[in-house]
Amino acid sequence: SGKNQAQMEQVVVNGSESHLVVVDNPNLLQKKISAIRLAGPAKLQVIADFDATLTKYWINGCRGQSSHNLLQQEDPEYNVKRQTLYDYYHPLEFDPAIPLDEKAKLMVEWWEKTHALLIEGGLTYNAIQNSVAEATIAFRDGVTELFELLEEKGVPVLIFSAGLADIIEEVLKQKVHRSFKNVRIVSNRMVFDENGRLQSFKGKTIHVLNKNEHALDMAAPLHDHCDDLNGLGDEKSSLKKRTNVLLLGDHIGDLGMSDGLDYETRISVGFLNDKVESSLESYRKAFDILYLNDSSMHGVVKLASHLC
Ligand code: TMP
Repeated sequence: SGKNQAQMEQVVVNGSESHLVVVDNPNLLQKKISAIRLAGPAKLQVIADFDATLTKYWINGCRGQSSHNLLQQEDPEYNVKRQTLYDYYHPLEFDPAIPLDEKAKLMVEWWEKTHALLIEGGLTYNAIQNSVAEATIAFRDGVTELFELLEEKGVPVLIFSAGLADIIEEVLKQKVHRSFKNVRIVSNRMVFDENGRLQSFKGKTIHVLNKNEHALDMAAPLHDHCDDLNGLGDEKSSLKKRTNVLLLGDHIGDLGMSDGLDYETRISVGFLNDKVESSLESYRKAFDILYLNDSSMHGVVKLASHLC
C-alpha cells in the first residue's frame, strides 16, 4: 500500500547492498529519541539478544550457527544426543497451543537435559575454542563500532542469551579480538574442574522464557573473573537506575528482555530474518524500528550516536 511505501525507507549501503528499514510510527520514535537524548548517556543501557541479532542470519549462503548448535563435543555421540533433544523440544518452543507455564517447564527440562549431556560428555574449554574456530558465525557489520561507541560513552551493554556464556565470550574473543569494559554477558555460565572438564553450571538456568532483567538476579556474576557479590550488587543496582533502554532482538519475545526493569523510555530495534511475508505486520507493530534483509548494525550505530 501507499502508506507502507511511505513508511519504508530504502537505505543503500556500499552501493550494492540494500537494506530495508521500517518505522511504523516515526513521530513516536522521534519523541523517544529526544527523551533519551535529553536524559543523557548516564540514564541509558543497551540490552541485546545474541543469536541472529548481534550475529548474521546468513553467512555466504549458509545459516549462521547459534552458540548452542556450533558446539562440537569430543565424543560425537553427545552431539547426536543433543540434536535428538533439539528435534523433540524445538517444535514445542514455538507451539502456540502449549500454555506458557507448561511451556516453561518443558524448556527447563530441555535446558537441563542438554546441560547434563555437556557435563556427562566431559566438555573441555579446548573443545569450545575449536568449535568456535570452525563455526559458521559472524557478527553483523558495525557491532564492534557499536560496542566501541557505547564504551566511550560509558553505556553498559547486556547481552542476554539462553545460550552458553562461555561460547559467546569465545566468539567475541575470536571474532572481535578485544574485550569491552561495558559489555556483560548474561547467559548460562560453565564451571570447569581442575582437569579442565565441565563440572556444572553457575546460577539458575536461563532459558527462552525467563531471559529478562530478572535473570540478572539469578545469573552468575556479570564479570568474567569476578565472584565478588558486593561488586556485582553495585553493578546491578546501578543498572536499575538506567531507566532508558535501547533493546535489540530478532523475536517478538525478545521484548520481554526489559521485563524486570522499571524503564521510562524504551526504543526497540528488531531484525526480521525469516518468514518476512507472514511476520512483517506483527514485527512492525512490535518494534519501533525494524530491519529486514539481514541488515548490518550501521543504522543502530547511527541511532546510538544520536542517543548519547
Ligand atoms: P536465544 O538465542 O534467543 O537466547 O535462545 C536460545 C535458543 O537456543 C533457543 O531458540 C533454543 C536453542 N537451543 C538449542 O539450539 N539447543 C539446545 O540444546 C538448547 C537447550 C536450546
